[in-house]
Amino acid sequence: MENLKRTNTCGEMTAENEGQDVLLMGWVDRWRDHGQLIFIDLRDRDGVTQIVFNAENKPDVHRAAKSLRSEFVVAVHGKVRVRGQGLSNPNLKTGEIEVVADELWVLSDAKTTPFPIEAETATSEDLRLKYRYLDLRRPKMQATFRTRHRITMKIREYMDRQGFWEVETPVLTKSTPEGARDYLVPSRLSHGSFYALPQSPQLFKQILMISGFEKYFQIVKCFRDEDLRADRQPEFTQLDIEMSFPSREALFTLIEGLMVEVFALNGITIPTPLPRMSFEEAMDRYGSDKPDTRFEIYLQDFTDIFKAADASALREMVEAGQTVRGLVAPKVSYSRKALDDIDTFIKQLGAKGVAWVKVGEDGITSSPLVKNTGSGAIEAVIQHSGAQKGDTVFLMAGNKEPVLNWLGALRLELARKENWIPQGKWKMLWVVDFPLLEFDPNENRWVSRHHPFTSPVDEDLPILETEQERVRAKAYDLVLNGLELGGGSIRIHRSDLQARIFKVLGFSEEDAREKFGFFLEALEYGTPPHGGIALGLDRLVMLLTGQSSLRDVIAFPKTARAVDLMSGSPSPVADRQLREIGIQVRKS
Ligand code: AMO
Repeated sequence: MENLKRTNTCGEMTAENEGQDVLLMGWVDRWRDHGQLIFIDLRDRDGVTQIVFNAENKPDVHRAAKSLRSEFVVAVHGKVRVRGQGLSNPNLKTGEIEVVADELWVLSDAKTTPFPIEAETATSEDLRLKYRYLDLRRPKMQATFRTRHRITMKIREYMDRQGFWEVETPVLTKSTPEGARDYLVPSRLSHGSFYALPQSPQLFKQILMISGFEKYFQIVKCFRDEDLRADRQPEFTQLDIEMSFPSREALFTLIEGLMVEVFALNGITIPTPLPRMSFEEAMDRYGSDKPDTRFEIYLQDFTDIFKAADASALREMVEAGQTVRGLVAPKVSYSRKALDDIDTFIKQLGAKGVAWVKVGEDGITSSPLVKNTGSGAIEAVIQHSGAQKGDTVFLMAGNKEPVLNWLGALRLELARKENWIPQGKWKMLWVVDFPLLEFDPNENRWVSRHHPFTSPVDEDLPILETEQERVRAKAYDLVLNGLELGGGSIRIHRSDLQARIFKVLGFSEEDAREKFGFFLEALEYGTPPHGGIALGLDRLVMLLTGQSSLRDVIAFPKTARAVDLMSGSPSPVADRQLREIGIQVRKS
């Protein structure tokens, strides 16, 4: 190996390299024996080059090439030549040329792989994850990680240009409440005490502001022990940002500039300034605090119609303060069976069901509601909604927040079924004016929607203890194509207000001191006003590379059961290790 000098990669040579002596190294992608001639496609992370072994030229090298198999690692020396007429491959950058081999070194042989190393694969995801090193050899995966690398390089370069310092914060830390469960690490030196892996570096970045660092960023691993979905991993990466003396506008401009440059890496134009939408509008019109604004179908309010309706269950609900909302699905006329499927979908979310009004192509309407609301209300629904012949109106009644959420989910489900979402569209926006608090019936107390360090809007301070549901937060989310890409806020920088918030959240003074005493104390030593944001880097890469699962953009991801199938973690440990950290495992 010491004497072999690689001259080129497998992805770069064209007719211009004709006649050059080259030495390539890589993996045997494909291997074809045509008797006198053996062809291999030699692959490295850059691409593929065709190599020819000719029995007439070099009988011994040709003989050696006979023993090659897929995924052997080889070095090949030879001369570049332009392929014969009609033999070039226009789909490949190197498709005009081939290398005629005169020397071959087999650097490694390889067992038959459990699945072929191909661009697209039909292999089960579990098998791909078990043999992740082979899965990552697939050119599509390598392209994703090249993009991921470019994005992180761009982020670092941009943040540096804007005057931000990258500072590392600890991984063994004290639990910060971000709403998910902590991963805990037992202390060997202090039995019964635990570190928590950070759900985010929230408190450390705020403390760096108190330390006078002014502009901080970090590309940082965060850990959350929560139920996993395609857009959630137990360990994931954030671009974490904090700045002192901020205005919300300055932060928005910073992030918008970054998004423009990052998306430009893939040739995507993000028009700025980004639109802004209040939380209230997002919920009322889209049934989601991360609205997918790529298609123009909105929720509507039908409550008033049912106030005046003939005696009916809906009228009673409305009189009891509930709401009736719905949406028009244009040119959707489902069979009874398909409507039942929609009803099942809605019930799985916890709703009682969904009602519908179908406007036939002949103008005749049908709806199960007619029985108990009378046709007057149905006519009013159609009028109010603007539904046309061939459309269906879906309606739900109940408490406002769940009804909006369910309809929001229905909106997306219909969009999926009906292909309402255009491909290649990028809709990024800020969602602003979030409520500060929400009531958690399980804990029977107010909890922070974002986190307890988010500042309330100044004019809402007088109602902080009395009308909690009306208090707005200086919080914002960055949303792209219906996915939450990031979230942040202007923080509380005064210890008296921070203590007030803890009180509203039901922490006793003692609790607050015990959990966040160090932070409350730090706030007392000259804290600049500050604010920040964190973006989900994995989600950003996922959207930019057009994938639908975070697992495809994380090199070594975990399954939905939080297992690493390749290394087999989590796994039991030796009794000795447990004794050392003072842990005894209870058999469940
Ligand atoms: P938040 O909890 O909103 O804010 O997280 C910021 C962003 O991180 C991403 N994200 C995740 N990505 C993958 N898997 C997960 N399990 C996961 N959880 C979150 C999302 C999300 O928008 N400390 C605050 C930020 C701040 O206030 O500055 C925080 O962590 O894209």
